[in-house]
Amino acid sequence: MNKNILITGGAGFIGSHVVRNFVNKYPHYNIINFDLLTYAGNLENLTDIDSKSNYTFVKGDICDEKLLAELFGKYNFDGVIHLAAESHVDRSITDPMSFIRTNIVGTVTLLNAAKIAWKDNWEGHRFYHISTDEVYGSLGSEGFFYEDTPYDPRSPYSASKASSDHLVRAYNHTYGMPIVISNCSNNYGPNQFPEKLLPLIINNIKNSKALPVYGKGENIRDWLYVEDHAHAIDLIYHQGKNGETYNIGGGNEWTNIKLVHKLCEIMDGKLNRTPGTSAQLITYVKDRAGHDLRYAIDCKKLESELGWAPTVTFDEGLEKTVNWYLQNIDWMQNVLSGDYEKYYLNQYQKR
Ligand code: NAD
Ligand code: TYD
Repeated sequence: MNKNILITGGAGFIGSHVVRNFVNKYPHYNIINFDLLTYAGNLENLTDIDSKSNYTFVKGDICDEKLLAELFGKYNFDGVIHLAAESHVDRSITDPMSFIRTNIVGTVTLLNAAKIAWKDNWEGHRFYHISTDEVYGSLGSEGFFYEDTPYDPRSPYSASKASSDHLVRAYNHTYGMPIVISNCSNNYGPNQFPEKLLPLIINNIKNSKALPVYGKGENIRDWLYVEDHAHAIDLIYHQGKNGETYNIGGGNEWTNIKLVHKLCEIMDGKLNRTPGTSAQLITYVKDRAGHDLRYAIDCKKLESELGWAPTVTFDEGLEKTVNWYLQNIDWMQNVLSGDYEKYYLNQYQKR
């Protein structure tokens, strides 16, 4: 069946993988990628599909009510997959307001645009909100986040995402809007902006720069290859039950320091360096304020109800990821613009 689907934030890291998957897998869908192209949005992420006839890019802000009304009027969307967000915890600590604006006000503006365009006639419509496991707070050394774990966000980023999740659920409960939400663990893979741990460490090892590890490096994250997340999003968009939440995770927990050591080993091999060379770059720096200790997701619901499972092992995923960053030096140079350099100096000089 033909469908018009609005994907917000499609020029970012995860969004670009979601857009590519939908454009290639569903030639009968018309995919509209709506993105403001902030520092994190990059159309270079999509050069392989940008001439496809079922793909359109529109530059714009999810807080722009008028533009959204025009867009919904023009395309009569069947569904929305909402990824646009400010996504970096460290930036949320220095500039919370931009997170409130985009993640909260932007999400409500989008919900309103959909509600008005769909005229409260929900048949055949779906609003899918992409969220994070960080809304559940922080775990000790044991236990997991479940879909019904009470929300306990602890950074401006996670608090803004939690707020947007609540608003999406409120539109379902109050107006009956058909929604679905997923909360995913940390993603890694090609096209991730190099302010996040993996691409930052890979790029710094390549350039023999210090590898900043916050605190003692004992914080734990559960890593999932980005294409496995994109496949989960495809499945949930098409088969997820209305009003439900699905956790997505890799079942792949690593302390930051062990992960940085693993990247050092892989990169020593790739760069023909003597084993142990890159690890000498590891530098412990001041911890992140309010640094969550551990995230770990239980995603049995998604596995048992919709048959999803991650398909890329961590070894395979890291191999693909490292190779991609080493082969896409131009991409890295282009995103490391003057603005990012300023952010980097400001962020790490203080530590
Ligand atoms: P990203 O920062 O790489 O990309 C965000 C995109 O949103 C960019 O293309 C940016 O230009 C766009 N954007 C920002 N503000 C906008 C606005 N006002 N209007 C329109 N577009 C705007 O983020 P990501 O890592 O790809 O994350 C995508 C989504 O997935 C986010 O909602 C994030 O909370 C969620 N998520 C991310 C992870 C992760 O590990 N990266 C894990 C779980 C959930
Ligand atoms: P990040 O990629 O920012 O994702 P998130 O904070 O959303 O989990 O960070 C992943 C982990 O790595 C987190 O515990 C913070 C840590 N970290 C460092 O130790 N050094 C760094 O330079 C960065 C960016 C992150």
